[in-house]
Amino acid sequence: MATTSQNLSGLRILLIISGSVAAYKSLDLIRRLRDEGADVRCILTSGGAQFITPLSVASLSENKAYTDLFSLTDEQEMGHIRLARDCDLVLVAPASANIIARAAQGLADDLASTVLLATDRPVMLAPAMNPVMWQNKAVQDNVQTLHKRGYRVITPGAGDMACGETGTGRLPEVPDLVRAVCDFFQDNAPLKGLSALVTSGPTFEPLDPVRFLGNRSSGKQGHAIAEALAMAGAAVTLVSGPVQVPDPARVRVLHVETAQQMLDACLKSLPADIAVCAAAVADYRAAEPAEQKIKKSGEAGLSLKLVQNPDILATLSQSNRRPKLVVGFAAETHDGLENAKQKIDRKGCDWLVLNDVGGGKIFGQDENTVTLLRRDADSKLDAETWPELSKKDVARRLADKIAETLPRSA
Ligand code: CTP
Repeated sequence: MATTSQNLSGLRILLIISGSVAAYKSLDLIRRLRDEGADVRCILTSGGAQFITPLSVASLSENKAYTDLFSLTDEQEMGHIRLARDCDLVLVAPASANIIARAAQGLADDLASTVLLATDRPVMLAPAMNPVMWQNKAVQDNVQTLHKRGYRVITPGAGDMACGETGTGRLPEVPDLVRAVCDFFQDNAPLKGLSALVTSGPTFEPLDPVRFLGNRSSGKQGHAIAEALAMAGAAVTLVSGPVQVPDPARVRVLHVETAQQMLDACLKSLPADIAVCAAAVADYRAAEPAEQKIKKSGEAGLSLKLVQNPDILATLSQSNRRPKLVVGFAAETHDGLENAKQKIDRKGCDWLVLNDVGGGKIFGQDENTVTLLRRDADSKLDAETWPELSKKDVARRLADKIAETLPRSA
């Protein structure tokens, strides 16, 4: 049964289960991490598979259990590089002496060791082995090496071992492992104590009771940004236009339809330390939406009188309650960089994420190629183009950049 406080909701953990008799505890660990709201993907090493089966791992995680580096179907579905990166933490539990040694050596001869080499995510090890093995200088040196490289190591527990010996080397109990993971996220939340306001999705501007002016924005990018900021510890309010994507975890969501409603919701959500305007706000609305359905009236066509909508990004940028950092988006079909430079000045924001939407690209897709333009303290403009990334990875990178810029206030 799920606990009431879900400390890991919205987070994905890649759990590597290696060969130790303690692997049986990993099955309960999967359940308890999920109870905390985490999405758990598992890699079972060949040693781990001597103790528990891929079927039980897959059933409990409700995700595929990955076992094989050279599995064509896995590579097509996911790819080991994506598996290594598309998570918030890699947890090796139990970590056998063997996988610790292979990671320390930088070997890449199976899926687990390759993922450990390829990941750019934090790694946490929960070693479990016989006490004499644990005390062996070779193991201790390897653990030290990994620790120096930034791995977090959970000290094994002391007591009776499955092999009949007594000493230090037991995998800690599952609640202790879950607590270590929760503490890790709590302590490492770089935006803890800061608040963020994010706009996302399109706006719909009514023409009559059944029709509206809208656009193709899916909200995927803005929602991913709200989630990434929340995962980085910020208290996030997301003001969302009408979208199909679900509300992100751990985010306060205000649903709106029109640009005016979006602006009102944003102003009500101030003060905020960070504002990211990712919404594709309709520039115009009908001057006077018809109260009844507009009927066809002959061959003459129809003229609509439109008036300009408020500019939410410019309003926030110029507000006397201006967030410390205001980030806008620019969707451009041509002359992207030049238009973006002008836009950053016109709107008065600090940063601008430039999207090339020429030829119908981006809308609704899962990938995005963006250039981040930043005005530094001396008003110099710095442009950084990122490779094609998933929208979630763009969001994570942006959250990382924001965290580097804004000192956390708690
Ligand atoms: N934006 C906004 N409110 C508006 C229009 C745009 O907050 N009424 C924000 C968007 O959320 C985005 C940025 O302004 O962060 C730029 O949006 P874009 O559509 O590229 O620019 P426009 O101001 O509409 O300019 P143009 O359409 O002329 O390129």
